[in-house]
Amino acid sequence: MAETVLEVKDLSITFFTKQGALPTVDGVSFTLDRGETLGIVGESGCGKSMTVNGILQMVPAPGRVTGGSVKLAGEELVGMREKELCKKRGQDVAIIFQEPMTSLNPLMTCGRQISETIQAHKKVSRREADQRALELIELVGIPMPEKIFHSIPGQLSGGMRQRIVIAMALCNNPGVLICDEPTTALDVTVQAQILGLINELKEKFGTAVIFITHDLGVIRQMADKVLVMYVGQAVEQVDAKELFDNPLHPYTQGLMRCIPGMDGGDGDLHVIDGSVPMLYDLPKGCLFAPRCPYADDRCRGERPGFYGAGGHRVRCFRCESMGEEGSR
Ligand SMILES: Nc1ncnc2c1ncn2[C@@H]1O[C@H](COP(=O)(O)OP(=O)(O)OP(=O)(O)O)[C@@H](O)[C@H]1O
Ligand SMILES: [Mg+2]
Repeated sequence: MAETVLEVKDLSITFFTKQGALPTVDGVSFTLDRGETLGIVGESGCGKSMTVNGILQMVPAPGRVTGGSVKLAGEELVGMREKELCKKRGQDVAIIFQEPMTSLNPLMTCGRQISETIQAHKKVSRREADQRALELIELVGIPMPEKIFHSIPGQLSGGMRQRIVIAMALCNNPGVLICDEPTTALDVTVQAQILGLINELKEKFGTAVIFITHDLGVIRQMADKVLVMYVGQAVEQVDAKELFDNPLHPYTQGLMRCIPGMDGGDGDLHVIDGSVPMLYDLPKGCLFAPRCPYADDRCRGERPGFYGAGGHRVRCFRCESMGEEGSR
């Protein structure tokens, strides 16, 4: 039996603004097993980062989690006291952001930052923590680890900094590693190296990974299963192989056409006409209807639920004949 490390059920996040209560994340559900990678993909502003903020209980004001449940290794995080949550973050679940400097202190040596993170969660001596930090720097493929241990982040390239962030994220061997566009700021060669490293470490430690990107090409390299998001909602959820073989939601099909080398894909990022609607001015029917080549009157007047079969969930009336597909 696969061991479920994270179970997110009907997670909803609302931002309370002058324009009203905005449904930034609307009923997102998924499970993640040990060693499994979930890819979350969607255009900018679709709620990918908010979803993981919601998992970590770190939604910035004026937003907050307004519904649902997040169970990390069976323990409910929604409603947990901040002190307890702090223990979980960095120990049981860690996050890597797009820009490594978000996570690094520019004034402290790389080695010390890692060893401090170790000491924040474990009772070990400074010497032991430093030793472990050095091993981690080596583990993430940094040449001359001793030298880098004593360097400050500013002396490193972007790719090397991101390796340090990965070392820091993994230092307490978390069950879940969240990667929020960790390679978007890097050039293509370095991006490939970092993706390779994340996959390698995941294999080694059995870490479950949530990988966020707007690039389905990256999803293809990284994910076992995929959640496609559009305006705060999951619109398609399925195993990665099935998604690429048989994308069913017109939005996913549109994203596919953005991947160079895919069938009909020309790499044009603006291939889906129109733009993501504003949360304060959502269409009445299907959220994708204004941009959808197949939309009819029903799509424009009514919100679709989830349809599908065999664990393939699609929020589109065109899949209605496949039957209702509930939460997994
Ligand atoms: N303080 C805020 N008040 C109102 N809405 C907000 C606030 N912060 C974020 N949002 C909204 O939350 C939505 C989801 O944002 P989120 O950062 O999760 O998107 P994303 O999918 O991660 O996009 P990107 O690919 O650009 O990182 C956006 O539409 C954004 O406008
Ligand atoms: Mg984001």
